[in-house]
Amino acid sequence: MPLPRIAQLLLEGQPGTESTVAGWVRTRRDNPAFSFIELNDGSCMSNLQIVVDASVPGYAETIKLATTGASVRIEGELRACPAGAKQRVELHAKTLQVLGVADPKTYPLQKKGHSWEFLRGIAHLRPRTNTFGAMARVRNTVCYSIHRFFQERGFVYVHTPIITTSDCEGAGEMFQVTTLDLDKLPRPSSVSGTALAAGAVDYTQDFFGKKASLTVSGQLEGETYATAVGPIYTFGPTFRAENSNTTRHLAEFWMIEPEMPFYELEDNMQLAEDFIKTIIRDVLADRAEDMAFFNDRIEKTILATLNNILAHDFKRVSYTEAVEILTTCGQKFEYPVEWGVNLQAEHERYLTEKHFGQPIIVYNYPRTLKPFYMKCNDDGKTVRAMDVLVPGVGEIIGGSQREDDLETLLGRMKECHLNPDDYWWYVDLRRYGSVPHAGFGLGLERMILLLTGMQNIRDVIPYPRFPGSAEF
Ligand code: 4AD
Ligand code: MG
Repeated sequence: MPLPRIAQLLLEGQPGTESTVAGWVRTRRDNPAFSFIELNDGSCMSNLQIVVDASVPGYAETIKLATTGASVRIEGELRACPAGAKQRVELHAKTLQVLGVADPKTYPLQKKGHSWEFLRGIAHLRPRTNTFGAMARVRNTVCYSIHRFFQERGFVYVHTPIITTSDCEGAGEMFQVTTLDLDKLPRPSSVSGTALAAGAVDYTQDFFGKKASLTVSGQLEGETYATAVGPIYTFGPTFRAENSNTTRHLAEFWMIEPEMPFYELEDNMQLAEDFIKTIIRDVLADRAEDMAFFNDRIEKTILATLNNILAHDFKRVSYTEAVEILTTCGQKFEYPVEWGVNLQAEHERYLTEKHFGQPIIVYNYPRTLKPFYMKCNDDGKTVRAMDVLVPGVGEIIGGSQREDDLETLLGRMKECHLNPDDYWWYVDLRRYGSVPHAGFGLGLERMILLLTGMQNIRDVIPYPRFPGSAEF
């Protein structure tokens, strides 16, 4: 029979009933006649207080093994805590069994207040801390909320490939997947009559017969299903080999990408706003204890920020208006701004944090800044792109209406130095029953940063991958 979880006992355990619990010792305090164990099983932030009387069988030999980090199993009786205590109930032990010891001389999580850096080095043990336990539970609630949001709206969950031979974002930031022997690469001068550049690799001999990579986005394949079964969403890992050593970038992160036929840019913006607000509402409702911890210990303004986000419509600002604000605000930026340049993190943060003080959606970016698939506006200069920027994080969502006109798409591919033959199946969607459609991508870890107020994206994913680091 599965054991009751501590979260459940603290909430609804009845004084006078027998219960068996198991978990990991957080702390132990000894008195001459009894000991207190603070027991955590990960089901919630709170520990269950266990009272182990010296009369419990084997007390003398066993209690000293129940040190911080040790795993124990305890049978006992729930009793009401004295009035004014932190919790309703505590467990009075009848038996105490140490399942696995944790040598105090070597167990790394003895004292509180370890640095983030240190905890990253013990990523296999950090989920046993308050912060990383809370992070794991919040992350789980976010994922559940995301699936529920789309399922309730009739979206179909589509699994797009992880290994791919196309570069969705056209940025060339892909991790290559190969079974070729890197010390003995096949380098013939020609492949089936076609001359190869000197030193070129013959990928026809590779596993997939073509150069393959880990996906940077499931969007292109997502579009093929959206234009068949209706609104879809993907939810999976994505990989970017960008050498960005920042607190906002990972080499492996999770992305949610809805794609909707018959949606235009404005519909896309509205869905993105409803989506983010729903996740915030669900997390505040379902993870109140963990969120109180983040507000108390990590970022004092996080609950106020989240409630402020819920209270207002996202402000919609065109790229041109955004540039105007940035060039006339009198603020000094490291990277100068003018129409046509990419907005840097400092500009995005200024707009959403200082100027507007709330989430904003910047739309209609210069076409030269954005990938080939975004729909061109009639002005000949901008595309129907949208980025959602939020306080504390900056860009959290990137999306667009997609180019649905065959000739315009082919023209854009040429502009972006892409060969339409490599994307023949994607181009086909504009040949056969093309429709207006739109979609976006939410970075899961950026969403968790927004929710928790954590400062570094490496601390909101269990095992972060970034340049120079793939330990565990
Ligand atoms: O803006 P991006 O590059 O958009 C796309 O990939 C589109 N194909 C999405 C779509 O329209 N279906 O990425 C989307 C989001 C970003 O806004 C950001 O939240 C997150 O993915 N993201 C990253 N998160 C962590 N580490 C990185 N290196 C990230 N790159 C993007
Ligand atoms: Mg983007």
